Amino acid sequence: MFENQSERVEDYNPREIPIISEEFLQFLKQRRSIRWFKNKKIDKETFDKLFEAAYYSPSAQNAQDVEFVVLDEKLDDFMHLAYDIIKVEEDEFFRIKQFGEYLRGEGDYKNHPLLWEGSQMILSFSKSPANAIIANTRLELLAYTMGLGGFYSLFTLKADELGHDRLTEFFPEIDSDKHMYSAFIIGYPRVKYRRTVPHKKINVHFK
Ligand SMILES: Cc1cc2nc3c(=O)[nH]c(=O)nc-3n(C[C@H](O)[C@H](O)[C@H](O)COP(=O)(O)O)c2cc1C
Repeated sequence: MFENQSERVEDYNPREIPIISEEFLQFLKQRRSIRWFKNKKIDKETFDKLFEAAYYSPSAQNAQDVEFVVLDEKLDDFMHLAYDIIKVEEDEFFRIKQFGEYLRGEGDYKNHPLLWEGSQMILSFSKSPANAIIANTRLELLAYTMGLGGFYSLFTLKADELGHDRLTEFFPEIDSDKHMYSAFIIGYPRVKYRRTVPHKKINVHFK
């Protein structure tokens, strides 16, 4: 299973942590979801770098079973399929209704109701939600250090919840036992934020 993977074994000095905790915390505090992007695509080399961050994620029973899809040319086709699946919930979710109107060219939408200005999306698949989300979070953080940004899409995930078999047909390369647990729209930010959103008090219970 791990044949030819020796180049991914990292030697390091356990006494040296190559990052300063205060700076790292400040970086985490400054993170904002990015929905407004420049008209510039992320290239393959940059994506490869991002996936390096994912390779080193922990996974349950060291399964290392997370698979990714980068949607670019096929993003439109995928979003049409996603709408076709999730439209059963359009009376429940206004955003899905808007998505349908947008796709049919109805209404006066300046931006895509699900993608905003995004044109590239990373999907992560795994048998375990935790494995997929942990792996994607790592590449997300690395992305921010590289001047990239993005946001997670809740409604895209509904396509797997409501129509896993149809997704499987769209992604024959992915093991059909795996589910899509994160959908992250990514790109070069067109805006820079000066502050974070208000955050609720976090409940931590020490027992
Ligand atoms: C699981 C998940 C799903 C999300 N879904 C959407 C979404 O469908 N559309 C969207 O614009 N933002 C989405 N977001 C982004 C949140 O709205 C955002 O994190 C929140 O408003 C706080 O803003 P911040 O990320 O800039 O701190 C999602 C975030 C998470 C973690």
